[in-house]
Amino acid sequence: MSSCDLLIRNGAIATMTAGGEPYGTIPDGVVVIRGDVIVWVGRAEDAPSDLIADPIEVLDLDGGWVTPGLIDAHTHLVFGGDRAGEFERRLSGATYEEIARSGGGILSTVSATRAADDETLLALASRRLGGLMAHGLTTVEIKSGYGLDLETELRMLRVARALEAEHDVSISTTLLGLHALPPEYAHDRVGYVDLVCNEMIPEVARLGLADAADAFCEGIGFTPAECTRMFRTATDHGLALRLHADQLSDSKGAELAADHGARSADHLEYTSNAGAEAMARSGTAAVLLPGAFYFLSETRRPPIDTFRAAEVPMVVASDLNPGSSPLGSPLLAMNFACVLFRLTPEEALAGMTRCAAPVLGYADRGVIEVGTRADLACWDIGHPAELSYWIGSNPCIAVVHGGRVRR
Ligand code: NIG
Ligand code: FE
Repeated sequence: MSSCDLLIRNGAIATMTAGGEPYGTIPDGVVVIRGDVIVWVGRAEDAPSDLIADPIEVLDLDGGWVTPGLIDAHTHLVFGGDRAGEFERRLSGATYEEIARSGGGILSTVSATRAADDETLLALASRRLGGLMAHGLTTVEIKSGYGLDLETELRMLRVARALEAEHDVSISTTLLGLHALPPEYAHDRVGYVDLVCNEMIPEVARLGLADAADAFCEGIGFTPAECTRMFRTATDHGLALRLHADQLSDSKGAELAADHGARSADHLEYTSNAGAEAMARSGTAAVLLPGAFYFLSETRRPPIDTFRAAEVPMVVASDLNPGSSPLGSPLLAMNFACVLFRLTPEEALAGMTRCAAPVLGYADRGVIEVGTRADLACWDIGHPAELSYWIGSNPCIAVVHGGRVRR
């Protein structure tokens, strides 16, 4: 019998475990994998010879680095159409909010998504996902929210789940029913929240199509009272909670997410220090979406210093979507997080690995440790800060997902 299924050697390891060396660095390390699990990790000179003597497959880092596979904890990558025309309008002076209030924005993607058949949605999403995967991604969260009727929300979630069968990647799905008020409910807010709470959530839970529920708590989205009602229903149906909070104004979304024990509050540009402290008390993570900040030319930054001081886990995600963040690279999201939000490159990498996993409910990934899942990314770099440093280039040389190598 072989000593192991996969041996990764001849390079450095950024284990991303907290509390020790920066990046959890092991300079000349090896990772030993059996099946889909890491069974040994450490310095090459300490590796037990019976474990590394006769591997079935070897991945030679050639002096590069291996990190945990990247986890993008917030995307909307299933959608029809695009919003390049709105981008042009914004560049001529219209704001994201004005476009939304005039019936464009999210609702224009809702029309395009409702009109697209499943094959089209799958093909488009597949291409976007392939782009993320090429940059070292092994786990991704995908939200619904461009259907806004029961049938199309279910279709979006099924397409998101179907991507997992086509690609070597783990997918977590989120129902985002309260994303915008669909045109057929334009004069019946209560009726739409009824639809989400009485039909969408029970059906999605019954079919097991989503792991979590999310809402857009904002002037152009839903009120804290409407989000509260949805949160209670989702909790009753066993769904974890997330919230698009304080993106365009301080709607007290951070406090709301904290009050309900949400796993995360996301965006957070207008969150107050009090909101950040409430998140610290409830263990709610801050999902930072610098792609949306960049693309909407936002100037107000999330309260990063307060998150850091209060030890709120900071997650970095792409928010890949057609309106506010058409961003197809997790590495570019990390670069934006450093340049625009002043995260350190180590915080940015932790935000796409160790801190991202719990937001999706995973305890088995995000760090390189014995017993964790063999989800890894290999890089042609001399130091892990380079992952946040290069702009628009891709040093990923191989990805391991569940012990299988993707080159
Ligand atoms: O995360 N803010 C709300 N939702 C998305 C944008 C959706 C869109 O504009 O299509 C976001 O930024
Ligand atoms: Fe989003």
